[in-house]
Formats: sequence, C-alpha cells, structure tokens
Amino acid sequence: MELIEGIKTRRSIRDYEDRPIDRSVIEDIVSAAAFAPSWKNTQVTRYMVIDDPEKIAEIAKDYTTCFAYNGNTIGKAKALVAVTAIKGRSGVEKDGSFTTKREASWLMFDAGCAVQTFCLAAHEKGLGTVIMGIFDDSLSDYLKIPEDRELVCLVCMGYPAVSPDAPKRKGVDELLSFAE
Ligand SMILES: Cc1cc2nc3c(=O)[nH]c(=O)nc-3n(C[C@H](O)[C@H](O)[C@H](O)COP(=O)(O)O)c2cc1C
Repeated sequence: MELIEGIKTRRSIRDYEDRPIDRSVIEDIVSAAAFAPSWKNTQVTRYMVIDDPEKIAEIAKDYTTCFAYNGNTIGKAKALVAVTAIKGRSGVEKDGSFTTKREASWLMFDAGCAVQTFCLAAHEKGLGTVIMGIFDDSLSDYLKIPEDRELVCLVCMGYPAVSPDAPKRKGVDELLSFAE
C-alpha cells in the first residue's frame, strides 16, 4: 500500500469479522512499529496482546464501567493490545532531571508516535484498529502492569466488518501557516 494512501484510508474500526488474527501477523506489525521515532531513540513503548476470548470478554465487562461504549467495542475485538511505556526515560536526563519544561509528558508523545505507526502497519496487513484512551484505572492491576510502566492506551484489533467513511477533516488552510 502506498504510504499517503494508507495514512488517508486508515479508519478507527469498531466492528470485526469472526476471524482470528495469526500471532505472526502481530509480530510483523510490532516489528514495523519498532521503527517509530522516539525521544533520543529510547524506544519506551511496549505492546501486551490479549487474544484469549475469555480475557477480552472479562476486560470488556469489568474494566470499561466508566464508558460502556468502549466495552461494546472491546467485546468484539479479536485481539486487544495494552500499550505501555517505560517511565523515566523520555524527556528525562540520566541524573533524573527533566530535559525540557514539558517534563515527563514526552512519554505520551513517544507512545503516540509508536501507536500510530502500529495502527498504520496493521492497516497495511488488512487489520482494523481503534485506539482507546478511556478505560477503568483498575485495568493496570488486572494486567499486572509493573510499577515502572504506564498503561497508555488500548488498541482493539480485528479484520474489519465495517468500512466507515472518514470523519470530516480540517482543511490545509486551517491547519497550516507559514511563519513570517
Ligand atoms: C488518543 C486517542 C484516544 C482515543 N480514544 C478512543 C476511545 O476511547 N474510544 C473510541 O471509540 N475511539 C477512540 N479514539 C478514536 C477517535 O475517536 C478517532 O481516531 C477519531 O474519531 C477519528 O476517526 P478515524 O480514526 O477513523 O480517522 C481515540 C483516538 C485517539 C488518538
């Protein structure tokens, strides 16, 4: 798939075919996502894949009480990716001080770059994804996320059962300016 076409045709997919995802396909996607840029090449983003249908159902039911809409989507996913990032590296010097005034928030920036790369690679493999930022805090304990990691987001995956139109995008005239 041509890159710009892939960027433009990737959609958030919230309904999936009843078809399993081969683990080797997910390995290929992560091996592409590994090429995402990161703060001083710290590569802090990690992907924990839940592909046991019973566990996915449990997460959908018990860990999205703050936003049941996401539970409905997770319940249909064939794989659920818990994206974590190692704390204390992005934006942080060896002596523990922050490099910039944005302090530790570069962790989220790095994870964002990595997750978009992951989603684009999944799209190239014919898989649909949706990033989720809303889930119950207790999910970190259920997934036994270590103290030195941040649970950044979830990504639902599956072969798309729908092909939604792109939500409206802002025009270049609004998005772009050239400095005087
Ligand atoms: C940081 C972030 C958090 C998101 N959280 C959710 C979410 O909790 N649930 C959901 O259904 N979609 C979520 N989305 C998907 C957005 O709604 C979606 O990207 C946006 O509507 C544009 O649609 P598109 O991805 O098809 O272009 C999230 C996207 C991002 C980048």
